[in-house]
Amino acid sequence: MHTPHNRAQLGGKLSAVLVAAGSSVGLGNIWRFPYVAGDNGGGAFLLVYVLCVAVLGLPLLLAEFSVGRAAKRNAVGAYRSLDRRWSGVGYNGVVAAVLIMGFYFVVAGWTAGYMVRALTGELARCASADDYRTLFERFVGDPWRPLLYTALFVLATHFVIARGVQKGIERSARLLMPLLFGALIVLAVRSLLLPGAAEGMRFFLRPDFAKITPSTILVALGQAFFSLSIGIGTMVTYASYFRPEADLRRTALHVTLLDTLVALLAGAMIFPAVFSAGIEPSAGPSLVFITLPSIFNGMTLGPVWSALFFLLLVLAALTSTISLHEVVTAYLHEERRLARRTAARITTGATLALATAASLSLGPLREWTLAGLSLFDSLDFATANILMPAGGFFTCLFVGWRLDRHIFRAELTNDGRLPGRIVPLLRFLLRYLCPAVVLAVFLDNLGLF
Ligand code: PFF
Repeated sequence: MHTPHNRAQLGGKLSAVLVAAGSSVGLGNIWRFPYVAGDNGGGAFLLVYVLCVAVLGLPLLLAEFSVGRAAKRNAVGAYRSLDRRWSGVGYNGVVAAVLIMGFYFVVAGWTAGYMVRALTGELARCASADDYRTLFERFVGDPWRPLLYTALFVLATHFVIARGVQKGIERSARLLMPLLFGALIVLAVRSLLLPGAAEGMRFFLRPDFAKITPSTILVALGQAFFSLSIGIGTMVTYASYFRPEADLRRTALHVTLLDTLVALLAGAMIFPAVFSAGIEPSAGPSLVFITLPSIFNGMTLGPVWSALFFLLLVLAALTSTISLHEVVTAYLHEERRLARRTAARITTGATLALATAASLSLGPLREWTLAGLSLFDSLDFATANILMPAGGFFTCLFVGWRLDRHIFRAELTNDGRLPGRIVPLLRFLLRYLCPAVVLAVFLDNLGLF
């Protein structure tokens, strides 16, 4: 197969793991995972989630890695070069990346706004959880302030992408990921030292099997997909920059372990704090923006913990927005033959426009709804419930049934230099189990069960 030879490649050995983990670890782990786990029974959910990650997430991650590194192209180009008829899987990914950015940048902007408010002491001035709720609702509904932070976040992402794969993406992951881990560990330890922490950890870790229902399984799978960034070609794009000697099996295993570890640490940070303050763990998406600042406020050095926490969210979100942006930039650059800078600018302009509309849809444009949902909620709904499961499903089918099995084996074993015992099991999972389960999630998300 013809492969472009002047393509960027990641440098160091660790880089493949760091950039891919940078994409996976994000708001999905720290903002979404704890509230979804809290809503779905804590320990019981955790158990199902870990099973979903191991049995479905890991094979799918390896499938995307194989497609990306075999083709050495952006998401659309990768599927197109392996089989023209399957380029739709790539287009699905590019569209999904734009739509996810539309709402993800808005939430990322909030985290930046909250970090600034923690630093200026504004967060410390609230007295009760109700004050925090009012503050959050006012902030989100304001026409200008959230927009300003969203725009800043988009520009920061643009800056990294415009610097290119090695100088931008790779360097930022090498800097930001260790910072993120450091901040997370400090916060989790602080939280575990709170009185009442044990009760929180019991809720988080002890499974109550009576709470495992079909819906727990489906919610856990959806969370695993979003958290691992699979189903929309992000990992195809990143793997296209991996070196030929990178061990895909090991990289995928490390990314999965890191992503899960961050979700666990986020749980260890949030549940003890929530229980110690006597707050319901099922508070929903507001857990991070309303509940946590009020908990931090009651602690010694409260503003410092708040600022550190929101800094952590900013870092996690940034490495993920970079990966989403790269899916679209690489596509425009390679398939539409635009200069990389131009491709990045177009992506930035389009996502900024969409994110602006999504942000306003929670404030001044609240009346404009699509099937009863604000634009912000529609973007979340359409990507998580339709485009990501569809992308995952077709990726399983493509790699399981269509991709030449020799290509799949060659990618996983680096042309026979690594042991290939795992390949038949992976192919089996990708052919049968993964698509069947993903289809079930898809139908369930559409409300057909
Ligand atoms: N995995 C990211 C998170 O957990 O926040 C979100 C995400 C990034 C989803 C990139 C999809 C993607 F392609």
